[in-house]
Amino acid sequence: MWSSHESLSCSEREFLVLRDLIRERTGNFYDDGKRELLAERLSPRAIELGFESLIDYYYLLKYGPGAEEEWRHVLDQLSVPETYFWREYEQIRALVQNIVPAHFARSNATPLRIWSAACAGGEEPLSIAIALREAGWLDSRIEIIGSDGSRQAIDRARAGIFRERAIRNLPPSILSKYFQPEGKNWRIDRELVNLIRWETVNLASRTEVERCLPADVIFCRNVFIYFDMEAVRATVGWFAKGLPKTGYLFVGISESLLRATDELELKDVGGIYAYVRSR
Ligand SMILES: C[S@@+](CC[C@H](N)C(=O)[O-])C[C@H]1O[C@@H](n2cnc3c(N)ncnc32)[C@H](O)[C@@H]1O
Repeated sequence: MWSSHESLSCSEREFLVLRDLIRERTGNFYDDGKRELLAERLSPRAIELGFESLIDYYYLLKYGPGAEEEWRHVLDQLSVPETYFWREYEQIRALVQNIVPAHFARSNATPLRIWSAACAGGEEPLSIAIALREAGWLDSRIEIIGSDGSRQAIDRARAGIFRERAIRNLPPSILSKYFQPEGKNWRIDRELVNLIRWETVNLASRTEVERCLPADVIFCRNVFIYFDMEAVRATVGWFAKGLPKTGYLFVGISESLLRATDELELKDVGGIYAYVRSR
């Protein structure tokens, strides 16, 4: 009997076919040194399904009945949901102080859609909602979407309960205003959770991405670091087509898209850089 911590063996050949399929379907890329890591991530689910080898799991994912549903589990297993409230806050400040006021100053202003496209447990879109609320902008003209490829991550976001680690960067005044202690954890105001449209979206699937487009501002931070360049190019291409001329895309501050696209270029907004359409 396998315990949940045991890993199935993964030969070089099994690794190569699995990682290519995973790259094609999720964008996530495992280079040659990550064979054991991939085996560790996939094994618990493969074992739970009664498989004795990862190649059997591969066949299920590639050809099996129920493969579509099983990809949801793959995205759960591969997910690195590290995030926290107020992360890379300068970009959110630019949204609240520059982008939103400029948008609504236009005489023909339409409602504004903000999409947090790999939001893990929801800390990013909830930070955006709080910052907008603090500045008096959060009303029915603004729609916020929080999505992630991992359904488990979105379920955690909907539950609205966060560990101490998630609130480590929050100003104390914001913590006491919007959160209630609950045992060792913190519960965020239900109203904020309910304001956000939560979705499960695989960023490597054009049809899933297009469900959230067009969007005026896209936050897609700290996820392309797990993708290979081809997958980044594809997703960024769909984003670029779904971004209005006045739209903005934020990636993580250590990420760059300059090798991935010529449809977007960098623009200074409130002292930080965001991507905008180049044509
Ligand atoms: C490190 S977290 C980033 C969270 C947040 N954006 C931030 O910057 O703090 C990366 C997230 O990307 C998600 N992810 C990985 N591959 C994905 C895919 N193909 N589609 C959607 N989300 C994906 C993971 O589930 C994980 O929650």
